[in-house]
Amino acid sequence: MTQPSERALVPFVSVDHMMQFIHLIGVEPMLRELADYIEADFRRWESFDKTPRVASHSEVGVIELMPTSDGEAYGFKYVNGHPKNTKEGLQTVTAFGLLADVATGYPTLLTEMTLLTAMRTAATSAMVAKYLAPKGADTMAMIGNGAQSEFQTLAMKAVCGLKTVRLYDIDPAATEKCARNLAGQGVNVVKCRTAEEAIEGAQIITTCTADKQYATILTDNMVGAGVHINAIGGDCPGKTELHRDILLRSDIFVEYPPQTRIEGEIQQLDPDHPVIEMWQVITGAAQGRTSDRQITLFDSVGFAIEDFSALRYVRDRIRGTGLYQELDMLADPDDPRDLFGMLLRSKTASAA
Ligand SMILES: NC(=O)c1ccc[n+]([C@@H]2O[C@H](COP(=O)([O-])OP(=O)(O)OC[C@H]3O[C@@H](n4cnc5c(N)ncnc54)[C@H](O)[C@@H]3O)[C@@H](O)[C@H]2O)c1
Repeated sequence: MTQPSERALVPFVSVDHMMQFIHLIGVEPMLRELADYIEADFRRWESFDKTPRVASHSEVGVIELMPTSDGEAYGFKYVNGHPKNTKEGLQTVTAFGLLADVATGYPTLLTEMTLLTAMRTAATSAMVAKYLAPKGADTMAMIGNGAQSEFQTLAMKAVCGLKTVRLYDIDPAATEKCARNLAGQGVNVVKCRTAEEAIEGAQIITTCTADKQYATILTDNMVGAGVHINAIGGDCPGKTELHRDILLRSDIFVEYPPQTRIEGEIQQLDPDHPVIEMWQVITGAAQGRTSDRQITLFDSVGFAIEDFSALRYVRDRIRGTGLYQELDMLADPDDPRDLFGMLLRSKTASAA
């Protein structure tokens, strides 16, 4: 029996290998490197194919496909969001993704992306905060202490020099878990009993809660002048975290407006409410923070280009580590038109 050609074998990064890979590089160095990859792709935003993600909603959650291409490589991520899952011992968000060669259409990488999504989301938040947070910001309120929270904190530390995180969650067990995981990571951790307490003295406010409704994690009177809000959890139609009045006082920065208008905090506003595209701030075509008293809001929903950057990063950096398996994933007959012949020969071979 002939062996599959080299191109038919697709490198596959399992969860176990991804964890080893992250440890090999180090959580904070990898968050910094991912932020650089994402920033580089935001800088060449116009060279990408862009479309709002394709979402399949149910009563309890959403399953989404997030594709994009830069003309050389094509990538997509499969991701779900099921806020009720944690009560059943399951993750709210799980994901996997694939990168392919545009010239042949052959996949070049298949990887777990649950951990990678947490890393890329945090790296994106920190990369954006580097541009928008007030100068010298070193304290963050972290509201919602679930799966993403430690990643968010460490990315802000690695990229923006965060010194203190003030934690709050409606479930004190989540805050305890987050504080435990962050012990010894070089950040001061303050556990708070209310969202108001968490916000005290914070220049960055991250909201990262999961609830399938129009929630009000922050009300207008809670938000003072000069802060940067990193709103992560409002990322689906009917799922928001901020009171509308906060949006009206903020300069709003987004990833891809056609997707954010459907899914982000700005679904609460008129469809033509002005927003600033983050890639334009990075290229210098638009202004970021312009005054100390301005409230900047990153209305993050998570866009396909961030996943593409993460896939590109893993493809580049996993080489030579041995932290992947070669997956026999593509049927690849010697004569490309003899797919059926390959099937017939396999029967003879297995009978022999
Ligand atoms: N923007 C993005 O790119 C992106 C990427 C990944 C996840 N997300 C979103 O981020 C959110 C968090 O994801 P996760 O994986 O950490 O979820 P998770 O379920 O692990 O954690 C969410 C936490 O929020 C807490 N919470 C719920 N309501 C709250 C409230 N009113 N006040 C304070 N805390 C509250 C819960 O107790 C829980 O601990 C989800 O909504 C998810 O869809 C966004």
